[in-house]
Amino acid sequence: MRKSNPFFLLLVVLILVGCGKSKPSADVSNNNVPSDLSSQEILNNSSVQGDYERGRQLFLQCRACHSLKINESHKVGPNLYGILGQESGNQEGFDYSDALMSSKILWNIDTLDQFLQKPYAFIPGNRMVFAGLKNASDRLDIISYLVEETAEKDQK
Ligand code: HEC
Repeated sequence: MRKSNPFFLLLVVLILVGCGKSKPSADVSNNNVPSDLSSQEILNNSSVQGDYERGRQLFLQCRACHSLKINESHKVGPNLYGILGQESGNQEGFDYSDALMSSKILWNIDTLDQFLQKPYAFIPGNRMVFAGLKNASDRLDIISYLVEETAEKDQK
């Protein structure tokens, strides 16, 4: 199985939580982010960060199709362990669509944000039956949860 670069992952986490904080889940801050901000703008504003706990709840809508931890089996969708910093379509043993296989997207905060906003538009022809998340802070919260839960340090 392909491993993501730990330095990249660290960078992602640092970007996500803002410099100086080491644990995304440590600070569950107020999340009243205006929904017209793009996630990138939210990330650029270090006083605002993804809300892990809210992300955990929002992920319930993904959980039916996706597991997160190492060695968990695929569901309707692929297991997402180690996804950050990895190229799209690389989870071992999952039968991806041709569209996803050939998309060759490096999953990071920005690409995940675009994908989750409109999966069908970001990777036309992919088989993920999900309309997308309109609200930028919802996406950021889910991504914040994903970063934490799919990290390779989480080997259990
Ligand atoms: C109805 C089932 C379903 C739901 C709900 C769903 N997904 Fe998916 N997801 C899939 C399938 C199926 C694929 C693979 C699509 C393909 O091969 O074209 C996929 C692919 C992905 C990928 C790319 C994986 C890779 O290896 O490149 C990510 C990331 C992802 N989903 C995240 C999410 C998140 C986050 C949510 C919740 C907001 C979600 N998905 C909701 C079924 C689902």
